[in-house]
Amino acid sequence: MTGSNQCRAFAPGSIGNLACGFDVLGLALGGPGDEVSARLSSEPGVRITNIQGDGGRLPLSVAANTAGTAAQAVLDEVGAPDGVEMELKKGLPLAAGMGGSAASAVAAAVAVDHLLGNRLPKEVLLRCAMAGEAVASGETHPDNVAPSLLGGLVLVPVWDPLRAIELEVPRELTAVHVHPQVEVETGWAREILGGQVPLTDAVAQWGNTAALVAGLFREDWEIIARSVEDRIAEPHRAEAVPGFSHVKEAALGAGALAASLSGSGPSLFALCRGEETAKRVGESMVQAFREAADLQANLVISPGRAPGARILDP
Ligand code: HSE
Repeated sequence: MTGSNQCRAFAPGSIGNLACGFDVLGLALGGPGDEVSARLSSEPGVRITNIQGDGGRLPLSVAANTAGTAAQAVLDEVGAPDGVEMELKKGLPLAAGMGGSAASAVAAAVAVDHLLGNRLPKEVLLRCAMAGEAVASGETHPDNVAPSLLGGLVLVPVWDPLRAIELEVPRELTAVHVHPQVEVETGWAREILGGQVPLTDAVAQWGNTAALVAGLFREDWEIIARSVEDRIAEPHRAEAVPGFSHVKEAALGAGALAASLSGSGPSLFALCRGEETAKRVGESMVQAFREAADLQANLVISPGRAPGARILDP
């Protein structure tokens, strides 16, 4: 697509939760992401004309598609009389714990807002993209959408109105993301959590979240390492990931500061100090998936300050 009434937007994958920040904290991943090509149309509403890279699994129906719903939310916010036709190119796998449904929603929201003159502030775009992502997981949660939109590490407290807080990240912080060839549906992974958390676990979790923010701000690697711990979701979800404990041990044994599930899994992430350590950690995690669970896994090494969504052209 070319021309002034058309554009193409990219949004990266992300690591949801970052262990202790269930539903409120997420980190953008450098590398893979989803693309949306959008074109203004005189026919009101959104139409998805093509989806590539999903193996035919995602719906073209706007209301059932994260990108379609986000695009419609932007049209509604702006109150534009125009409509939009769009194509989605999935660079991220489905049900992978890479923030794929969020990336599609963000790319669509950014593309449509760009076509309409970049009128929406970031928090409104975030809300539109969250409405899109809710289609996939059954609930709104900003921890993938926010870093995919803004890049880096983002905290989104449960506030009304919504506010995204972009956090300091030490220059050397490097993320490792390892995606094994199995799928975990986020909706299911949320259901198994139950909805009740023992007070002792809640106290530990909010203490860790606060400590992580302080550790990142101070560049205190010991505090970072100790605070990336998930007492709420990981104990319920780890069983769904074959080889989980071996892969986590492999990461820590190879020098990671910490490791946990990425979002609702099946992927794991690790945080490392420096790229060399991250490469060693990533290779150990891939090997552990192979040896412990006979699973092939894909590896992404990402800077802690990876960029967020952007317009690719025109
Ligand atoms: N915060 C979400 C969850 C992330 O853990 O359910 C899903 O990718």
